[in-house]
Amino acid sequence: MDEDRYPAPSSRRRFVKGIVGSAALGSLGTAGAGLTEVPTNRSGVGGGSIEAKVIENTDGPADRGMSQIPVTIEDGYLKGVWPGSTEGATTEDDAVQTTLGGVTYSSKWFQYCGNQTHPKLEPDSEADNFLRVDDGGAYEWQSALESGAKLAVEEFDDYEEWGNGVGDDGLGKPAAATWRSTETDSSLPVQVIRSPEIEAAAEDDEWLAASTEKGFLAWLNSCTHLCCVPAGFKQSATVDGAENAVYCQCHQSVYDPFSVVTSVFTAYPRPQN
Ligand code: FES
Repeated sequence: MDEDRYPAPSSRRRFVKGIVGSAALGSLGTAGAGLTEVPTNRSGVGGGSIEAKVIENTDGPADRGMSQIPVTIEDGYLKGVWPGSTEGATTEDDAVQTTLGGVTYSSKWFQYCGNQTHPKLEPDSEADNFLRVDDGGAYEWQSALESGAKLAVEEFDDYEEWGNGVGDDGLGKPAAATWRSTETDSSLPVQVIRSPEIEAAAEDDEWLAASTEKGFLAWLNSCTHLCCVPAGFKQSATVDGAENAVYCQCHQSVYDPFSVVTSVFTAYPRPQN
C-alpha cells in the first residue's frame, strides 16, 4: 500500500503530505490510478476512453475516484466551470473540451452513472453554471439556506474552524449542491468544500491553481461503485479513514478530497437525439 496515498487520518502533518504527494503524482500524469469502466450499452454518441482529474478513491468497492468540477467565483457566488464556456473550447468526438491548468478538461468527465443522459451535458447546452443549494444534502448548516439559491462565498467564512463533531475540525466546510440543473427534470449532484488544505496545495500545483479558487474544490457526487449519491465529507465517524474524507453509505467506499489524481475510464455515450 502506498503510504503517501493513505495518510493517517488523525495526523494533520501527514494529511498535508498526502495532498502534496498525490497532487504531484497527478501532475506527473499517473494515468491508470483508476480502473477502466466498461459500459454495458454502447449506443449513443460521445463516449469512449477519457482521462480525468478525480478525488481519489481510497477504500471500499469503488474502483476509481469521482470527477472533479473546476470552480470559479463570480460576484461572490460559486460557479462550476463548464468546458464549453471557456475561451478556446473545441468540440471533438461529440464532447466539448478545453485546456485548463495544463489538463484537457472534457464534458466526458461526467458521463457515468446515468449522468450521461442529463440534457445539460450536451456539448452545446447552455446553463448559468452557478452551484446551487441542494436541500437534500446532509449538512445541518445548510438548512438555513433556500433550496436552489446560489451558493455564496460568504456562507463559508468559518471554513478554517468549521466542524460537525466528526473527525478533525478546521479541515474545511462542505456543502451539497447541484450544477447545470435548473429547468431540467434531473440534477447533477455536486459536493463542494472550502478548505485551507486545498488553498495551500493550489500554491504548488498548476491544475489545482486553475481548478480551485480561494480553497474551493468541487466534484460530481456520483459514487463510481454503483452510483449512489455519497453522504459526503465528514459523514462517518465509524468507518476507518472516512472521518476526514468523503463517505458513500451504500457499500462504504471512501474518497479523499485532498488527493486529486488522474484516472482513466470509459465514458458512457450520451443518448442520440
Ligand atoms: S459504495 Fe457502492 S454505491 Fe457507493
